[in-house]
Amino acid sequence: MKTLVIGTGGREHALALKLAQDAEVHAAPGNPGIGLIATLHDVDAMSGESIAALATELGAGLVVVGPEAPLVAGVADLVRAAGIPVFGPSREAAQLEGSKAFSKSVMAAAGVPTAGSRVCRTAEEVAAALDEFGAPYVVKDDALAAGKGVVVTRDRDEAAAHAAACETVVIEEFLDGPEVSLFAVCDGERAYALQPAQDFKRIFDGGRGPNTGGMGSYTPLTWAQSDLAEVVIATVVEPTLAEMRRRGAPFVGCLYVGLALTARGPKVIEFNCRFGDPDIQPVLAVLDSSLSALLHAAATGALDSVPAPVFRDEAAVTVVLASAGYPESSSSGDVISGVEDAAATGADVIHAGTALDGDGRLVTAGGRVLAVRAGGADVAAARANAYAAAGLISFEGMQRRSDIAAEPLGVVEGASLR
Ligand code: AMP
Ligand code: GLY
Repeated sequence: MKTLVIGTGGREHALALKLAQDAEVHAAPGNPGIGLIATLHDVDAMSGESIAALATELGAGLVVVGPEAPLVAGVADLVRAAGIPVFGPSREAAQLEGSKAFSKSVMAAAGVPTAGSRVCRTAEEVAAALDEFGAPYVVKDDALAAGKGVVVTRDRDEAAAHAAACETVVIEEFLDGPEVSLFAVCDGERAYALQPAQDFKRIFDGGRGPNTGGMGSYTPLTWAQSDLAEVVIATVVEPTLAEMRRRGAPFVGCLYVGLALTARGPKVIEFNCRFGDPDIQPVLAVLDSSLSALLHAAATGALDSVPAPVFRDEAAVTVVLASAGYPESSSSGDVISGVEDAAATGADVIHAGTALDGDGRLVTAGGRVLAVRAGGADVAAARANAYAAAGLISFEGMQRRSDIAAEPLGVVEGASLR
């Protein structure tokens, strides 16, 4: 089956690697890493008409829209209207990520366990909500902000200043506990959970410094309750899918459930409408089932036609290499060396923000540049393999955390303000 992957990042490269096991993969616009395993098409991910036309021209049997921005812009709707199965929610259903206020209202209607919250538009409402919940303060821009919209702080002035800089904010109760990413593959009605993973969101070791898109990830989480996926499907995903159907916006795609495992059980920190990056990367490395069959079944409303996904009893770890200045800024054009050496160890070198310069050299082109993923019999072995491979790659100003998957250190990620 011809499968067209939309997007440019590490998530799309990891999806393409797994899909290529049993599908002919095309990507738009893709990146230099994806270009090694798929046919690239120079089509803008945000242009729904062009993507639908490309999918039609290719005779694609499945389109997978990776990032949130095209989903929120309705790109999946235009592909679906062209009669092509698409894995990714409609513009309306993508509001689960596109608007924090919308997702909170769906969670409330569906009875999903999450942090108590207030939607605030004025300084008075902000002050009242900050007082109501107390420190640590959690202030979220209502709109999409590429991972930079959330401030978690004990400093009341900083919290109020972030709120003042946004038009509408959601202020909520602080959830204390390790963070877990759970990906649910949904066909509108049913869902299958993938194996839980942990993402390391802060830039520095020990969960310090500003939030990023994610600096590393791993699976399995041997310390988490063994029935976590089942519990989250039953208490979070199924009620949410039912509420979305009731609203006339069935959710087809990946419902990314960001959880805090609190003393009072798993609670939702956020919903996203797509796979997480880099959190999905190790999960795909241990997925033993066909990803293309799974996503096609979800895209065609027939998830019950494929068995629940199964995972190998192994571990995988991803370490992100970021450019100078990330996350506040990023550095482009720095020459990257050592990628072939890293790949020769057996690791996957996943491209997130790379480009080829005029001389055909691989250079940095974004905040998160590469993600080095390796497997192993257990987390410690996978971690050693990932760091050994990552250690062979270098570029000017490269940043990486040294404590990804260093259990039990990983368990404190997400609870650093305790
Ligand atoms: P979000 O974009 O909603 O995932 O928020 C980004 C990060 O902020 C999360 O990954 C958490 O580390 C942190 N965060 C968000 N909401 C909360 C909360 N209610 N309690 C504690 N930490 C939170
Ligand atoms: N790694 C977090 C995200 O994809 O949103």
